[in-house]
Amino acid sequence: MYKILYNKKISSTSYEIAVEAPFVINKCIPGQFAIVMTYEDSERIPLTIYDYDKEKGLLYLIYQVVGASTLELTNAKKYLYSVSGPLGNSNEICKNPEKYKGKRIVYVAGGVGIAPVYPQVKYLKEHGIESDVIYGARSRDMLIIRNKIQDVARKVYYVTDDGSYGKKGFVTDALKKRIKDYDICVSIGPVIMMKNVSLLTKEYNVKTIVSMNPLMVDGSGMCGACRCEVDGKSKFACTDGPEFDGHKVNFDLAMKRMNIYKEEEKIKLDEMKKRNENG
Ligand code: NAD
Ligand code: FES
Repeated sequence: MYKILYNKKISSTSYEIAVEAPFVINKCIPGQFAIVMTYEDSERIPLTIYDYDKEKGLLYLIYQVVGASTLELTNAKKYLYSVSGPLGNSNEICKNPEKYKGKRIVYVAGGVGIAPVYPQVKYLKEHGIESDVIYGARSRDMLIIRNKIQDVARKVYYVTDDGSYGKKGFVTDALKKRIKDYDICVSIGPVIMMKNVSLLTKEYNVKTIVSMNPLMVDGSGMCGACRCEVDGKSKFACTDGPEFDGHKVNFDLAMKRMNIYKEEEKIKLDEMKKRNENG
């Protein structure tokens, strides 16, 4: 059992949870993820590591309530049944910052995709690399951790779909305006956003890294649930990724695979909502 310090709502759809898990964070480098289980019979939820405090042994995760499992996670107050990690590979720039010194780096984050972007930008700053962030959300109330990201980025460009904060538009509009300023782009958010960012950066020949978050079960390369097509080859997001070359990912297939269990997920979510309403 893993002690929870807090599990609090931070926007209309997202929560932040802090849990004691020293072994997960001792060796982690940004880009890696953890898999949590709320109860013994819960589904396994993969969540990219958002922040950590190595001295206190604390792991911080941000999650969006999108289905029954994440709704169930909001009920966890004292302990999580299980936390596994760190899983997957770290971000290639964070793994080898010396190699990227002098490169002009932009992070493009959509919605809760800002959570895995934050530790990378922070880590790079600690290693002498400044990066810019383009951060988009549907509206002002869905922009999270603004102060934290501003503390570590050189410059943050905000965009909202409805224009309620920053410029009105998508992250791709903001990126297009300044794409010539960058050599490398790291994009994390909805698959459709990562697809459109990658199409844009390909036009300008800007190296692009994306973080895939398909369905996962074991998180260790055994079940095949997280298969993605990259450069025409089958790759596992959990062991080969989660980050890949955005110019080589088959995003259309990824979107199709994400929708396979939509119907079943909706039924489970409705059941969980009813269970929560009945206490
Ligand atoms: P959202 O649908 O609210 O979109 C966020 C932003 O993405 C938009 O404001 C816009 O700027 C951009 N965007 C959306 N559609 C676009 C399009 N067609 N073209 C260009 N830009 C577009 O996002 P959300 O509901 O917060 O969802 C965030 C997503 O990020 C989820 O799908 C989640 O699974 C994913 N995510 C991924 C990781 C990871 O590690 N890979 C981590 C956290 C979240
Ligand atoms: Fe099973 Fe990746 S989650 S192979």
